[in-house]
Amino acid sequence: MIYPIVVYGSPLLRKISQEISKDYPELKQIVYNMFETMYVTDGVGLAAPQIGKSIRIFVIDTTALSEDDPDLEGFRKVFINPKIIEEKGEIFTYTEGCLSLPDIREDVDRPEKIRVQYYDEEFNFFDENYHGIKARVIQHEYDHLEGILFIDRIAPLKRKMLKGKLNDIAKGKASVAYKTKLVK
Ligand code: NI
Repeated sequence: MIYPIVVYGSPLLRKISQEISKDYPELKQIVYNMFETMYVTDGVGLAAPQIGKSIRIFVIDTTALSEDDPDLEGFRKVFINPKIIEEKGEIFTYTEGCLSLPDIREDVDRPEKIRVQYYDEEFNFFDENYHGIKARVIQHEYDHLEGILFIDRIAPLKRKMLKGKLNDIAKGKASVAYKTKLVK
């Protein structure tokens, strides 16, 4: 099943998502559907709030970014109840986009390295370090679970310049190639 994407203007995207337990109903189906939805919409990451579920899950696949970096090929993962327990290294600038903010791309600064703890869909525990683009995609998706969008991390003046575009998205007026919805 392909979920519609919850877009900017939906209060749900601003909520802190809840941790889930191993017996969360239809967990494997939800994870499967999230991957399907991400591929259909050409995303490299998708967090549960973006499909209308305020729970701590996100999926990523950086293969679409692997042209310049073969290491990103096949980096496909689900993160359940993740915790970024450390961010370190130099501040690294990278242009981000988001399925919930169609047509908006801006440079965002974040630390280059992270340490993250999480579970997969079998509830195996992992404690891993990532850097560069992999860390970046994880940081962006993790923010969604905290109710944070990448436009919160750009300069206020830049955000002001996006006001018209943001208002259009919030009013359902932006033209988007995939199915979207606004969720209270
Ligand atoms: Ni996003």
